[in-house]
Amino acid sequence: MIKAVRGTRDLLPPETALWNFVEAAARDVFRAYNFQEIRTPIFEETQLFARSVGEETDIVAKEMYTWYDGGENPAILFERAWRSEHERDYDQLKPGDRFTPRLGIDFVGYKNTEVTLIEVKFSAGERIREAANQLLRSRDNWLAVYPTSENPRLVLAIPASQLPQASRLVPPSIEVQPVEVPSDYEPRQSLTLRPENTAGVVRAYIEHKLWERGLQKLYYIGPQFRRERPQKGRYRQFYQIGAEVIGPPSAGSESPARDTEVLEMLATFLDRLGITDWTLELNSVGCPNDRAVFNEALQKALEPVVAKMCADCQRRAVNNPLRVFDCKVPADQPIIDKLPRISQFLDEGCRKHFTEVREILKAVGIPFALNDRLVRGLDYYTRTAFEFTHGALGAQNAILGGGRYDGLSESLGGPQAPGIGFAIGEDRLVMSLKESADAVARKPDVYIAPLGEGMNREAARLARELRRHDLVAELGDESFRLKKSLETASKMGARYALIIGENEVKANAFALKNLETGEQVSVPRSELVRKIQGNG
Ligand code: HAM
Repeated sequence: MIKAVRGTRDLLPPETALWNFVEAAARDVFRAYNFQEIRTPIFEETQLFARSVGEETDIVAKEMYTWYDGGENPAILFERAWRSEHERDYDQLKPGDRFTPRLGIDFVGYKNTEVTLIEVKFSAGERIREAANQLLRSRDNWLAVYPTSENPRLVLAIPASQLPQASRLVPPSIEVQPVEVPSDYEPRQSLTLRPENTAGVVRAYIEHKLWERGLQKLYYIGPQFRRERPQKGRYRQFYQIGAEVIGPPSAGSESPARDTEVLEMLATFLDRLGITDWTLELNSVGCPNDRAVFNEALQKALEPVVAKMCADCQRRAVNNPLRVFDCKVPADQPIIDKLPRISQFLDEGCRKHFTEVREILKAVGIPFALNDRLVRGLDYYTRTAFEFTHGALGAQNAILGGGRYDGLSESLGGPQAPGIGFAIGEDRLVMSLKESADAVARKPDVYIAPLGEGMNREAARLARELRRHDLVAELGDESFRLKKSLETASKMGARYALIIGENEVKANAFALKNLETGEQVSVPRSELVRKIQGNG
């Protein structure tokens, strides 16, 4: 039997009614704050997530569903060129070592048995600098693992036509290998199922020049994909209800009033769903200025202790020390608790912004708890960062998370466009509402039971009439015995059963049985709607 893939699941009735209820409430509440819906594609270019969420984050480094789509593998193109120019070197590579899947590196070879690593990346256009950085990072990692090995040879293969550009973008420690690119060459694209939706929204903002329309308040509802270890409240395909406020600074996008409006909207939304025992955890993660000073302090503090930490933290300490705070390894926690906090490094502007956010929250009566360990697992955040947690959810207790991302648009090649947003984990939200599933699902108002040959026709006519009046009607079949029809009707929770036999049709009045009380009355056709609606 073929089953749903691990980490994915089917959402079935009656639970789907709860999903609809939650989504309808979100649309309704967001509307009152003047948000409008945006729908972006479920897959995007891989680079979009690498450049926004960040290469060192767990999401990008470990959890994305990525594949190559169409076109030709640039590594194969390179290999052809390499083969023709370096026939001898090429033959000395151990065959099994070609194309080893090291992150971002297209070609890895070991010359003979001695460890002379040749790492090659193929790149073109504006990506050349990025590719060069990837090569350098890869070499650092290699030397960290094999400190006694020779310095690996780094080669960046680029189209011959871009040679002049390369000299500016590629440091001298990387060899440049020009490759003749056939005129009909169509590069393959690396694509990724979206692990989150902020990157896609900001891409769309830039692509469609949405800044020309002033401040954008956009929301989305849809599936996201992360290859995490599935457990309660954690899936590989999960759903988010999210929103983003983004626009030019002149439209007020940077104001703390935007932050508090979003937070207040979330509190209103959760209240509307009857979720009351939430905690809003709040922090400011500062801006790039603060981050540079903080990173330095963090690196210094990590130096004497990092050797005792997990392998991930050792890597993070070098590449992106802030990510050490994402560590979940219990043994590392006492060490992390003693590290400096970003809150100690906020500059004047960030401090003022954060104070104002807290003051407005107090003024509108939204309670919050400061948590200066909260750095969020995505790199784009600046200033305000927050999570709402919910006690009943267990280990995966973050029901939603979000924050500011003031430099994100620029880092994706767009204009200055400060923004703030959030995403609610809809799976977790629904989980915390589960008891209400029955109350939310709409049961049939009436089960129509045709009795005997020719009665399906009459039943269909009546059902059509009743449904026009917004009654939920379920239809039986003329071949069913009355007993079976009544049992089916009760089982599905219908309020009434309507019996349609030859006599009833002749009299134009039908037997209507209240399935709760068992009372049965004959109701003329013209009064059926009123009676079933409960006004009769
Ligand atoms: P995030 O914290 O990565 O933020 O995800 C937001 C929420 O999605 C989490 O709090 C959680 O409820 C839910 N979630 C995440 N991963 C899973 C999973 N594997 N299974 C079930 N639920 C999950 C973001 O995604 C940002 N884009 C939020 C944002 C919008 N920041 C600014 N704008």
